[in-house]
Amino acid sequence: MVKLRVNGEERSFDGDPAMPLLWYLRDELSLTGTKFGCGVAACGACTVHLNGDAVRACATAMGDVEGAAVVTIEGLTPDGSHPVQKAWRAHNVPQCGYCQAGQIMQAVALLKQSPNPTDDDIDAGMQQNLCRCGTYQRIRAAIKAAASGAV
Ligand code: FES
Ligand code: FES
Repeated sequence: MVKLRVNGEERSFDGDPAMPLLWYLRDELSLTGTKFGCGVAACGACTVHLNGDAVRACATAMGDVEGAAVVTIEGLTPDGSHPVQKAWRAHNVPQCGYCQAGQIMQAVALLKQSPNPTDDDIDAGMQQNLCRCGTYQRIRAAIKAAASGAV
């Protein structure tokens, strides 16, 4: 039995410990904001926070999250009012939107580590999150806006 907290709620899981956290979030908890892109930790669409750090839920086994606190895009704020979410709206970042929950979760983790990131910090922190629509310039602008408090 794996016990964990997801978006502040106590949960328990008694299935296959090798099952990816992504399947648990989407299929068992219906938290479908976290997306499946590649399944091999190569795109970032499935990014969530595990004890405050950005991780790939597709490559995180349920057996490795005992006692952990998981936050998904649904749990970031109850009303979309996180500064990063506000900046994303202010800069119209999403195009198709598929990658964006992962981008936002990665950006929040980046700003926690680097509250005033340079372009290089942003590029380094976000380079593993792919966007097929090419929204990278708007992502960078939104992260800077969130960092500066301009939203
Ligand atoms: S689906 Fe997890 S990194 Fe691509
Ligand atoms: S907004 Fe379409 S993949 Fe990023």
